[in-house]
Amino acid sequence: MHKARKLEVMKRIGLKIAIMAIVASAAPVWAGDDENPGVRNCTWCHGTSAQGYMVAPRLAGQRAQYIESQLRSFHEHTRDNPFSKQYMWGAVAALGPREARDLAIYFASLVPKAANDGDRDLAARGRTIYLDGIPEANIVSCYACHGPNAEGVRDIPRLGGLAYFYLKGRLEQWGQGYHSGVESPMPLVARHLGPDEIEALASYLSFVK
Ligand code: HEC
Ligand code: HEC
Repeated sequence: MHKARKLEVMKRIGLKIAIMAIVASAAPVWAGDDENPGVRNCTWCHGTSAQGYMVAPRLAGQRAQYIESQLRSFHEHTRDNPFSKQYMWGAVAALGPREARDLAIYFASLVPKAANDGDRDLAARGRTIYLDGIPEANIVSCYACHGPNAEGVRDIPRLGGLAYFYLKGRLEQWGQGYHSGVESPMPLVARHLGPDEIEALASYLSFVK
């Protein structure tokens, strides 16, 4: 199947099936997992070594301060897109600030692997937008905040190597009025991005190590 078409189909299959697949594969994930029960509460969705799985993004190597801030946003219901609501609001309902902090530090310490699942043909354009923005279209460069290699800094997240669909979904959601934190600059940044720019950026970033 053609790549773009395959991606569309995968998208349409949607979440119900994704979650069935998570449940179906739960046994092997658990069997090989020697992590503690608190971590397993997260990795049964976020994948072995928290490298991401289906709609749940990679947490490995993410900035600890960012993970912590998002856990707070899920807890306070300020990160409000449908997947967040459906999966993360419940997952953090009973999580105290101290446990959230420990989990954030733990996941940040794991070595991240790049998803490598974007469209290779779009990566060069995505890289140009990432580094330079598109001034005539009011699209700012991402580099200034997310770092030269998309590694993030402080509570600004690492983007390099996140999965194509996750990145695409996030960039679309800000345009649709969803939020992730109270003072995030991203709704303003993403407002000017069209579908082509989003696909190029998500493709490029999925390959960044
Ligand atoms: C039932 C499945 C499920 C469980 C259990 C779960 N998550 Fe998630 N998590 C998700 C999904 C799906 C998303 C993506 C939400 C979105 O698209 O906004 C997510 C998003 C996140 C994010 C945001 C990452 C980013 O890059 O912005 C963090 C942080 C996170 N989860 C941490 C955790 C932690 C810590 C636990 C364990 C306490 C956990 N999750 C348990 C499904 C789950
Ligand atoms: C002014 C600083 C700033 C600029 C410029 C910026 N970002 Fe962000 N970005 C942030 C902050 C802060 C967050 C975390 C808060 C949030 O998620 O809303 C974030 C979050 C994100 C996320 C969510 C990551 C995750 O794990 O869910 C993506 C994707 C993203 N930015 C992409 C981009 C892209 C692509 C550009 C360039 C077009 C860009 N950002 C420009 C500050 C910035």
